[in-house]
Amino acid sequence: MPLLRTPVYLQVVPVFCLLAGLFFSKCKNPAQPATYRDEYNEPHRPQFHFSPQQKWMNDPNGMVFYQGEWHLFYQYYPDSTVWGPMHWGHAVSSDLLHWEHLPIALYPDSLGYIFSGSVVIDENNTTGFKTGIEKPFVAIYTYHDMAKEKRGELNRQYQALAYSNDRGRTWTKYAGNPVLPSPGTPDFRDPKVFWHQQQQAWIMTLAVKDHLEFYRSPNLKTWEKTGEFGINAGSHGGVWECPDLFQMPVNGSAETKWILLVSIGDGAVNGGSGTQYFVGNFDGKTFVNDHTDSVIHWLDYGRDNYAGVTWFGAPNNQRIFLGWMSNWRYAQVVPTQVWRSAMTLPRTLNLQKINNDYLLVVNPVDMSELYAGKPVNVEAATLSVDSLFSETTVLNEITVDFDENKSTANEFGIKLSNSKGEAVFIGFEKKSKQFFIDRTIAGISNFEPGFAGRHFAPRIAANPNIRFKIFTDRSSIEMFADDGQVVMTDLYFPNEDFTRISGFAKGGTAAMLKASVQPLNGIWGNASSQKK
Ligand code: FRU
Repeated sequence: MPLLRTPVYLQVVPVFCLLAGLFFSKCKNPAQPATYRDEYNEPHRPQFHFSPQQKWMNDPNGMVFYQGEWHLFYQYYPDSTVWGPMHWGHAVSSDLLHWEHLPIALYPDSLGYIFSGSVVIDENNTTGFKTGIEKPFVAIYTYHDMAKEKRGELNRQYQALAYSNDRGRTWTKYAGNPVLPSPGTPDFRDPKVFWHQQQQAWIMTLAVKDHLEFYRSPNLKTWEKTGEFGINAGSHGGVWECPDLFQMPVNGSAETKWILLVSIGDGAVNGGSGTQYFVGNFDGKTFVNDHTDSVIHWLDYGRDNYAGVTWFGAPNNQRIFLGWMSNWRYAQVVPTQVWRSAMTLPRTLNLQKINNDYLLVVNPVDMSELYAGKPVNVEAATLSVDSLFSETTVLNEITVDFDENKSTANEFGIKLSNSKGEAVFIGFEKKSKQFFIDRTIAGISNFEPGFAGRHFAPRIAANPNIRFKIFTDRSSIEMFADDGQVVMTDLYFPNEDFTRISGFAKGGTAAMLKASVQPLNGIWGNASSQKK
């Protein structure tokens, strides 16, 4: 299996530095993030989102923060641009924006493919895996035995451990694997583990077909089942996958709540894969929902945010989330050649009490480090058709406010377009009080019936000031409306980059209060110009 190779110039740098160090005191630190100058230039290649150098990627895995480094592992198949025998790819970042690729962390072996899971820092060496000065990283992941699947055997998924004593650089699989054998249910996967202070124990949340199971362990090696949740709760349009359970303070109060994220493979709010969440309590054994079973909260109303979970050990009690920016309906056939799939922007989660409910408010991490020059500021205006704001940049953070009461148009918002007549619309529909992204005429869509279309999200706020914050990369849009109350993430594949950014109104006028277009730099240090 081919390795992700370190570029030749990076292999040479350390030797050069050693020699140069004899003469110059300030040789560039070879451990600094690499740039990928000759790559990341293909059509549709995301410029400020994480994507693998080449080949197939799906779920983010094992996200952990340790000594200034944000680690991202991910489901990876280095031999093809479609799903196959799963490995864990690996990258690190010091700012959550720029990424350095590292060698593959975990390879499949005789026990199976390496499916999704989590990584914890074993502070107290409960596993006994510690050998040096670094705290051990412990990966808890699912093995999927493909040979058993082919033979129709149901006991094909089980949980296992691997550990690293050098900050995630090299890994050893635990000799006692598996640590949690299959109960005979074919869907038994995606362990997400945290340290529960009160019980001084590890807690694992596991997806088991149509519900979750909770397990407790003193040492990550022996597990005892403590509870189940969800067989009748929330959305069951598809198999339950990739859970995450964590406690959060409620903004502006002393109250805390437990949040449970659950991804579902199909049947999400706008079709295909999506992520729902529950709000409630964790009593040490199981999750107790605050709501009746029929209540569903969606983390993102777009079509392209799946299998996302949060970082273990983020500083300052932050909850930082990352999702896979695709959808199982078409992930393997989207029109990209060298690589397939990117991650969403890393996002901060906060909990707010709104209309007697608790709501996850989702915003991107601070992006100002990527600001390229000054923004284009647009004065307040009454829009009646399209009004061009800017026409040269592809990578942007767009902010726009409308006054709903003073707008007569049924639809208004932002339009991205190119010279080929392709466009994507991000807006608000007054009659139905819904946000939408419309990618019906956004370019290539023949790879999947139903890819072209319009996706909706209900507005929660009742005030007339509607605020959009929108991030446009070459093949994705992320909309954070009303300061993160409503989020939508959608892919698109235009035949030419969208450089024209306009305000639009349909069927009347729209009172735009202000707008700005802030161009962004890409993160890969390559030649792919964002100016056209
Ligand atoms: C979610 C998922 C997980 C599984 C992994 C396999 O997208 O199906 O449940 O562990 O992908 O790649």
